[in-house]
Amino acid sequence: MRKDTGKRQYSFYEHLSTMHMFCMFILMLGFIEYKHSPFIYPAFNLIVFTFLSLAGLGIVLFLNPSSYHNTKEGQFLDSSAPDLKVKLFYMVFPFLVVLTLYCLKDNGVLLETLFVLPVLFTSTVIGKKASYAMSTVCTLILVYTPELTLNSLVTALESNIFIIGAMYAVGWFVGGMMDIEAQHRKQLRQSVLDLKAEINRREQMEKEIARLDRLNMIGEMAAGIGHEIRNPMTTVRGFLQLLQGRDKYAGDREFFDLMIEELDRANSIIAEFLSLAKNKAVVLTEHDLNSIINNIYPLIVADAMISDKNTIKELGEIPLLYLDEKEIRQLILNLVRNGLEAMSPNGVLTLRTFIDGEEAVLAVKDEGSGIALDILEKIGTPFFTTKENGTGLGLAVCYSIAARHNAVIKVETAATGTTFYVRFKLPGINQ
Ligand SMILES: Nc1ncnc2c1ncn2[C@@H]1O[C@H](COP(=O)(O)OP(=O)(O)OP(=O)(O)O)[C@@H](O)[C@H]1O
Ligand SMILES: [Mg+2]
Repeated sequence: MRKDTGKRQYSFYEHLSTMHMFCMFILMLGFIEYKHSPFIYPAFNLIVFTFLSLAGLGIVLFLNPSSYHNTKEGQFLDSSAPDLKVKLFYMVFPFLVVLTLYCLKDNGVLLETLFVLPVLFTSTVIGKKASYAMSTVCTLILVYTPELTLNSLVTALESNIFIIGAMYAVGWFVGGMMDIEAQHRKQLRQSVLDLKAEINRREQMEKEIARLDRLNMIGEMAAGIGHEIRNPMTTVRGFLQLLQGRDKYAGDREFFDLMIEELDRANSIIAEFLSLAKNKAVVLTEHDLNSIINNIYPLIVADAMISDKNTIKELGEIPLLYLDEKEIRQLILNLVRNGLEAMSPNGVLTLRTFIDGEEAVLAVKDEGSGIALDILEKIGTPFFTTKENGTGLGLAVCYSIAARHNAVIKVETAATGTTFYVRFKLPGINQ
């Protein structure tokens, strides 16, 4: 892309410098032709004109291309490129060259023809409308006589009719082509922008698919290994309970309790891990999301109170949704627990439900200090945690529950807090 843009810039400046040199060539021819004109000597001389022209060429060749190197990619595709300075310069420069020669004119030579030159330049650099304006200015110069009368005007028009016609024709034809080119460039730019947006969207989708794939794989592994590990654990737990009851271990009861507790903890981690299995069976029946929240709300309030935090519940009117009550309860509790853990005492956790377009939304908002970008990219990956005692399964479970409900989870985070949105499709909407 950048290479292409560079090529276009290069050919454009090549085109301009060729036109510029052509103008200088005509100017030189003029000076040679009119070298005895009182306008050239002694008021001006060839060196001054040559110097000015070369300086102009220098500006175009060095100043503008180098400034393009510093511009952003794609700017050349902008309809405003090349910039106004260059456009104006190439409208005025050939015009001044021709005007200078015209002022020096010796009646014998048909210098009028050269007026096509500024029109040609204007049409290539700016477009059709500007070339009409330039043709009109040149026409006015051609038909101007010091003693301006209607008759003299008509005569001048008549004698210059071919060149005037040629100027407008050149402007119409070349300018029209340039306008079409500009239009194409504009379309191309739009297509490039669309393409970029599409590529971004694809990359996002690929990331999401890769994440789901990972989840899927881990879920399948979990389903297999989890079962196998739980069986021996149940045996061990049973024996521990049995031995705990024996008199000779009476003094070690607390150790047995600890061992059983630890086994239970391991068991619950496996249970959570197992729920990551994508093909886990869920029973989706019509449920009121608000009632599920109301049912577990006392638990949430108690959880919050333990750590001196407050909760707010704002439940809007939403229709019945197809949900697995147990799973949704788990999803809410996981999000709530994260929110509470993210806040310092006195923070407020807000639970909201509302309708947004064709979706019913559950929002869990906390007043924590937000999630850093590098962490944000990883959340939801099983076992990713920043907490000392976290397992890093909470959000992974939430994502897989959401996927089973055909819902999506979106996160908004800032230094003032984080909001997790779970967006459920309304029943009856194409899923
Ligand atoms: N509301 C939040 N505010 C700030 N960070 C959060 C929030 N929710 C999640 N995180 C970040 O995402 C990480 C992963 O969260 P996740 O719930 O998956 O695991 P966890 O909370 O660390 O452990 P657990 O398995 O016990 O839930 C957290 O460690 C934390 O860094
Ligand atoms: Mg968590």
